[in-house]
Amino acid sequence: MSSPVPVSGAVAESSSNAVTLSTSPTISAHSPGSYFGSMNRRLTSSFTAPPKTLKPFNTEDMKVLLLENINKTAIDILNQQGYQVEVYKTSLDEEELIEKIRDVHAIGIRSKTKLTAKVLREAKNLVAIGCFCIGTNQVDLEYAARHGIAVFNSPFSNSRSVAELVIGEIIALARQLGDRSMEMHQNTWNKVSAKCWEIRGKTLGIVGYGHIGSQLSVLAESMGMSVVYYDVVPLMALGTARQISTLNELLSVSDFVTLHVPQLPETHNLISGPQIAAMKEGAYLINASRGNVVDIRALVNALSSGKLGGAALDVYPNEPAKNGPHFVETLNSWIPELVKQKNVILTPHIGGSTEEAQSAIGVEVGTALTKYINEGSTIGAVNFPELSLRPLSADEEGHVRVLYIHSNVPGVLRTVNEIFADHNIEKQYSESRGEVAYMMADIADVTTSDIKTLYEQLYNTPFRIAIRLLY
Ligand SMILES: NC(=O)c1ccc[n+]([C@@H]2O[C@H](COP(=O)([O-])OP(=O)(O)OC[C@H]3O[C@@H](n4cnc5c(N)ncnc54)[C@H](O)[C@@H]3O)[C@@H](O)[C@H]2O)c1
Repeated sequence: MSSPVPVSGAVAESSSNAVTLSTSPTISAHSPGSYFGSMNRRLTSSFTAPPKTLKPFNTEDMKVLLLENINKTAIDILNQQGYQVEVYKTSLDEEELIEKIRDVHAIGIRSKTKLTAKVLREAKNLVAIGCFCIGTNQVDLEYAARHGIAVFNSPFSNSRSVAELVIGEIIALARQLGDRSMEMHQNTWNKVSAKCWEIRGKTLGIVGYGHIGSQLSVLAESMGMSVVYYDVVPLMALGTARQISTLNELLSVSDFVTLHVPQLPETHNLISGPQIAAMKEGAYLINASRGNVVDIRALVNALSSGKLGGAALDVYPNEPAKNGPHFVETLNSWIPELVKQKNVILTPHIGGSTEEAQSAIGVEVGTALTKYINEGSTIGAVNFPELSLRPLSADEEGHVRVLYIHSNVPGVLRTVNEIFADHNIEKQYSESRGEVAYMMADIADVTTSDIKTLYEQLYNTPFRIAIRLLY
């Protein structure tokens, strides 16, 4: 059993300098709970409010569980909101997880915690999941969406870290640094210059010019490389880089080819025998994208025949679930052949693994969670319609923000707007994604007793998945 790490200031004052705080509990289909908070519970002060102060609800009611040693940047953001934050350094076993998740409104995890339908079924108060990582396949996204739970992740916070690793690998391959270092560790002095190159003036071919590919382009040019790129969409070139219209042409002109495409059916074995054959003699291949993008058997053949001068791999079709001596034949049958090749740099999927990336992920996901909890914004959600409204301000007395997650069926807005008929709808947006739709509306001229009525009427609509009223 893991022990919670004490979190200082877990129940703190709201970060807002609002002079008027109001309470707004979480209301969802599976948790009617105490759904009308105290509009009377106002704190007054002689302090003069700035004109557009945020108006958060009483955030100390929110309970957040953070597992798997999530970065301090996220803990600080969540604490500053006044949420009750409980932090564990490890993941929890399923039984403990089910016990803990029953009570919380938001949970933060990384890749080890499995949020299956079985676990989520017990999460009666849960409104949001933060995956403090890139992947989200550890969460049953569809179940979560159908039960009104928004899931956030951080797909791009580590782009710079990956780009820097690739720059390091370009130089390391050109100078055969991996082999020289291994030889020295085995007490062998092997001073050679044959087939060792400067990278200045060489051509870097980038396949996939997205977040990582485009950063890499800038870094590589600054070191004197000439950059070409291939992408399935036309993209503006940075610096003097040049887009090339076919993959084969890129392969035929590049001294280094680096892959930065997503995992898609079209990118499976994107680089196999024929593509390697199209590459220059002695060129180098780098893959820090996804393991299935390169046919590694074809790569091993090209390395052993001398067609390629070297390769760097950070990702593999099958990767071990934990650290240890697991990079063996039973994991991928070609491993014994691959590890014998000269000038091959193998790293354990560390492209995005830096302190800076972890800290940026903490900020991005921590902020997304607070914006969803406090304001209803789902921008960045991976399983939910993405929607946002500007925050309510302290001078907007008698306003209520309605967050209504519902089945994506005809007739919802008519029904909901009949419920709102006696109030002024100041803003209303709706967006759908698959079977689930999300409506945000700011309603004016609402009294405390109206809130209770509004809630009950919305709760009784047949399309309702979850409701929250923020005021
Ligand atoms: N090694 C690591 O630790 C690590 C860390 C972060 C990301 N990644 C991986 O790196 C890859 C790139 O990440 P990103 O953030 O730059 O993604 P991105 O979505 O920003 O960019 C991907 C680019 O690839 C292009 N593309 C898609 N299919 C293509 C095809 N068939 N041919 C050519 N271009 C194609 C897209 O149009 C897009 O411009 C992803 O696979 C991601 O999972 C790895």
